[in-house]
Amino acid sequence: MKVLTVVGARPQFIKAAAVSRELRRNHDEVLIHTGQHYDEEMSDVFFEELGIPEPDDNLAVGSDSHGAQTAEMLAGLEERIEAEDPDAVLVYGDTNSTLAAAIAAAKMDTDIAHVEAGLRSYNRSMPEEINRVLTDHAADLLFAPSRRAVENLREESVPGAVHNTGDVMYDAVLWARDRAEDHSDILDELDLEPSEYVLATVHRAGNTDDPDKLAGLLDALADDPREVVLPAHPRTINRMQEYGIREDAEEKLTLIDPAGYLDFVRLQDCADVVATDSGGVQKEAFFLDTPCVTMREETEWRETVEAGWNTLVGADGEAIRRALATADAPAEKPRPYGDGDAAANVTRLLDDA
Ligand code: UD1
Ligand code: UDP
Repeated sequence: MKVLTVVGARPQFIKAAAVSRELRRNHDEVLIHTGQHYDEEMSDVFFEELGIPEPDDNLAVGSDSHGAQTAEMLAGLEERIEAEDPDAVLVYGDTNSTLAAAIAAAKMDTDIAHVEAGLRSYNRSMPEEINRVLTDHAADLLFAPSRRAVENLREESVPGAVHNTGDVMYDAVLWARDRAEDHSDILDELDLEPSEYVLATVHRAGNTDDPDKLAGLLDALADDPREVVLPAHPRTINRMQEYGIREDAEEKLTLIDPAGYLDFVRLQDCADVVATDSGGVQKEAFFLDTPCVTMREETEWRETVEAGWNTLVGADGEAIRRALATADAPAEKPRPYGDGDAAANVTRLLDDA
């Protein structure tokens, strides 16, 4: 079977690496990078670290408005799908790269397989929510990470075949956790003691694109008595710069470049608490037994909140301060996202299709 995989953004390299390792045992995989993320530390570092081959092609679309970026990807992917004639196009998550690949494949009547299907925030102002819903409705094979994701898809009566595979990111974390402990020097480099710092990330458009919101959120983080380490997404750095708050943030926080995956897993594993607006980071904190404070009003990963490991606080400064001060690891943890064998399940289901 020949599978054409499309990736473009940081979390997709990590998810695709987990599946690729399994898929390439018995199948041909052509890996196309859209070029949505392109900085060394947002892209290349993951291919070097995660043991996946270099992309077969990079469309190098770069950054642009949603429409222009998606359109350029769509045109490039159509050409590649035509040239490769794959049995299926495999897409991940909810970025513009995901949507472009789904539309390109749908228009060419090529089967679409969607990993991380069925997630919903029910917040239609998030670009990612639109990408997810449209991709799920175009997909032929929907690989859902949890029972709730399956239910969400059933409620929407999607036409494709829905399967609960578990979450590929759990596979990724299981692969990385011990390797990170053995190989990452990030704690020494930053002079950090385990359990004595907060790890934060902020990149969601809803938080970064409003100057008051971003400044308030960074102030709330900085008020925490522990050291706050913030590997900053380029979007966030650009906004800080634009709003004239970068220097202030650099003074109050340990602002560093985006970290490689092993360093970032190590930072999450050893943090006292994680504060984030990332989808993937909420889940990884959960897998790594680190309590999480989520700076969003809602989450697609509701199981982590229901289990008491994740607290939703939005961008309200007081709520962030309070949640950081009180976050604690519950005594128990359920396993709503499978057993860490999602990549094998995805590969088997692709075989059977
Ligand atoms: C995208 C995804 C988001 C995902 C995130 C993962 C969409 C709509 N959003 O958001 O769902 O959570 O990736 O990190 O697809 N930039 C650089 N260098 C890079 C990449 C980006 O400087 O390598 C800057 C550019 O100024 C760009 C901005 O970051 O305009 C935003 O990048 P973009 O890919 O459009 O969206 P993300 O915020 O990264
Ligand atoms: N990540 C990383 N380095 C960082 C920040 C995040 O390797 O500095 C990884 C993190 O471990 C997770 C993924 O990137 O696997 C999450 O991506 P991101 O937060 O950019 O996007 P989202 O998951 O919100 O779509």
